[in-house]
Amino acid sequence: MEEVLTKIERNGWSCMPNFIGVSESLALLRACEASFDQGEFRQAGVGRRGNPEVRQEIRGDHVLWIDPATTSPQQKVWLETLETLRLALNRRFFLGLDHYEGHFAIYPHGAFYKAHLDRHEGSSERIVTTILYLNEDWQPGDGGELKLWTTPGDTEGEFVLIEPRLGTLVCFLSGDFWHEVMPARKIRASITGWFRQR
Ligand code: OGA
Ligand code: MN
Repeated sequence: MEEVLTKIERNGWSCMPNFIGVSESLALLRACEASFDQGEFRQAGVGRRGNPEVRQEIRGDHVLWIDPATTSPQQKVWLETLETLRLALNRRFFLGLDHYEGHFAIYPHGAFYKAHLDRHEGSSERIVTTILYLNEDWQPGDGGELKLWTTPGDTEGEFVLIEPRLGTLVCFLSGDFWHEVMPARKIRASITGWFRQR
């Protein structure tokens, strides 16, 4: 947790392999897969929250929003970890993060998400993005990397390619860092969410 804060302080973003343990990650993966198999996911949209539009040439993932009122015990553990992170971010950076919203995401084979920022126009703002990856045995040829440009506001210069490995947590300032999901060569699971201000 402390290392995440230090990296955000230094760079505005952080990547932490094995942020949570294998059994906790696998429990989240199993819950994600079960909900996907039961048809609870929807094709993700782009644009305004109230009126999203499906545009597969921009993003091809399927999502299931997490409802804290109906989550399983394993998901509650993850939400509690995020709550600890939210409070720690507020103490360190005075961000006034008010709450978390997040969803499971599944990228089917071939799906991607073109370069974008995570900030929507209107409504309360997304301040910090968190992504927990849930993929066992991800190999270099499997694609699906997160491409994160490491200079705020930039989509041309230096970037990192992060493999979506089980238990890896990525955090970054939502309005500053351009990022993209490279085409996945096999099904790719994650929990993506945002800390917001009121
Ligand atoms: C997003 C997003 C990145 C990833 O959902 O906004 O950029 O690696 N996800 O899943
Ligand atoms: Mn994004």
